[in-house]
Amino acid sequence: MTTATGSRIVSVGHYQPARVLTNDDLAQMVDTNDEWIRDRVGVVTRRIADNETVADMAAAAAEKALAGSGLTAADIDLVAVATCSSVDRCPNVATRVAAKLGIAAPGAYDINTACSGFSYALGTADHAIRAGAARNVIVIGAEKLSDFTDWTDRATCIIFGDGAGAAVVTAADEPAIGPVVWGSAPEKGETVRIEGWRPYIQQEGQAVFRWATTAIAPIARQACERAGVAPEEIAAFIGHQANARIIDGIAKRLGMPQAVIVKDIVESGNTSAASVPLALSKLVERREVPSGAPVLLVGFGGGLTYAGQVVRCP
Ligand code: UT7
Repeated sequence: MTTATGSRIVSVGHYQPARVLTNDDLAQMVDTNDEWIRDRVGVVTRRIADNETVADMAAAAAEKALAGSGLTAADIDLVAVATCSSVDRCPNVATRVAAKLGIAAPGAYDINTACSGFSYALGTADHAIRAGAARNVIVIGAEKLSDFTDWTDRATCIIFGDGAGAAVVTAADEPAIGPVVWGSAPEKGETVRIEGWRPYIQQEGQAVFRWATTAIAPIARQACERAGVAPEEIAAFIGHQANARIIDGIAKRLGMPQAVIVKDIVESGNTSAASVPLALSKLVERREVPSGAPVLLVGFGGGLTYAGQVVRCP
């Protein structure tokens, strides 16, 4: 296989379960209300999977992305899945997706960096293509966080949702996926946890909020710089959909207008590694941003980890 100058996202796809859980539904389950959730987090609805697994949702999103790519399963030589909520340790989600889509012998790995996972996985796909280790890659973010939600804890159960988003990435002469900027703050790692002995999402919300609203804007700025794009030239900003106030805070520090900020959190909640590709796929579906326009992706969360890059809209 030959190396390539760069890579690009050719097509995207997403999947969300049918069941909608509203803020009023949650108010029947815990001591909360629609107004608090809208004001403090920005979520109005989220989707909850019933029978679907992480791999089912990942495969459904990947199938849609593949259908729009002009490629077939036989062309795919790498599947990378970002997730932190797959219940099974083995086999991984990537091989299950490959089996469901009939991709015969791809490289197949899962990445767990929680909410920043899609940008990490996209970065590794770009690297693999540039190194000549792959030509056509499916990159997926998929989560079923409802399996790890304590439905009696109002501080967390109102935030999260389930879903998946996927992108088909291929070799390109003109690089259309900017250099990934990634890193972590391990000393703050215990502020978001899903521990084996108590497998529910626990987080020190205020500590993560403070970190995200101060640490992530400089990372986003670096991602723009490394792509050679000024923040004011960004056509859409897709931050991890953790909290609408966090997204606004980052955008404000970057000097970005409201018009470019993507807030899928309103209808999907926080879907961890799925949130960025889900929002990107919906943005492309709505045709809000012209093909080729620069879109800033930035994930952050458990670990605490972060990653971001500027991509050209497919
Ligand atoms: O994606 C993974 C990374 N995670 C994040 O990025 C999360 C970052 N953190 C956050 O988004 C926010 O901190 C939360 C949404 C988790 C919480 O919002 P907050 O504004 O930081 O609320 P708080 O925890 O400071 O709580 C404020 C008040 C408290 O009441 P008192 O002590 O002031 O009387 C809470 O008990 O709001 C209360 N509260 C609620 N009230 C109604 C907490 N949860 C709820 C609720 N409904 N669901």
